[in-house]
Amino acid sequence: MARAEIIDGKAIAKELRRAVREEVYQLHDQHHLTPGLAVVLVGDDPASAIYVRNKNEQCEEAGIASFPHRLPADVREEELLTLIHGLNRDYRVNGILVQLPLPDHISTEKVLETIDPVKDVDGFHILNAGRLAVGAAGAMVPCTPVGCLIMIKRRTPDLAGYKALVLGRSNIVGKPMAQLLLAENCTVTIAHSKTDDLAGECRQADILVAAVGRPRFVRGTWIKPGAIVIDVGINRVPTEGGKNRLVGDVAFDEALDVAGAISPVPGGVGPMTVACLLRSTLIAFCRQHGFDDPKV
Ligand code: GUN
Repeated sequence: MARAEIIDGKAIAKELRRAVREEVYQLHDQHHLTPGLAVVLVGDDPASAIYVRNKNEQCEEAGIASFPHRLPADVREEELLTLIHGLNRDYRVNGILVQLPLPDHISTEKVLETIDPVKDVDGFHILNAGRLAVGAAGAMVPCTPVGCLIMIKRRTPDLAGYKALVLGRSNIVGKPMAQLLLAENCTVTIAHSKTDDLAGECRQADILVAAVGRPRFVRGTWIKPGAIVIDVGINRVPTEGGKNRLVGDVAFDEALDVAGAISPVPGGVGPMTVACLLRSTLIAFCRQHGFDDPKV
């Protein structure tokens, strides 16, 4: 069996960021308006801080104004909700993202439902999740699954009839990923920690999306020969030198000999997620101003 094609998320994300940037500049020339994204970080989790900084930097590079907000870990829920109400009213802000996870004393559900659905670039508001589920127009769709779908369609543009298995049932990735694949006419299975014969289920999948948060959980023997494998995992594991290294949810070296195509970690889903956040901000901006949806 030939070695799997590596789906270069980093390169695809770069193209997508460039396309967003071009649209942003064109819209600015035509209308003298600039999209804006507010990113809210509560607490000082180092990994979240890096993600947030990255999001803000890439916004600026794409010509999107960034409005970072950092709140202490012990901030009162009410104060965070007041900030969100202010961002909902702020005409410069077209997208609002509150970095998850939040500290335990804050209700994530309440926070997500306070964000104006038209500014909900994460697509986590219940109205957007519902719109995606019923196939209604105007849904804001979570960035990670959109990024995964773009990568899958680069390899195979028409997915009708393919068997897809999504490993993981989170609201952030698993459930919306399944909805997107279903909308592409795949036959979709959602598998999780209680699934019987997980390996056997995986082995039937033409498309396998792994989002379980467990390092190298999916073994090469679980993969159907020629399958498209998308690895959403970002797991830090210690190396022999005492440092940390990022690995995915798939045993990459084993998968290389079986899969038809696979996204690596790092350099796969991660950069796509941030590029899709810029795209979602542009979409939100266009809808708020009554412009056509962008062509990116
Ligand atoms: N934490 C991990 N992934 C995400 C994401 O996609 N959006 C937000 N807001 N927080 C996250």
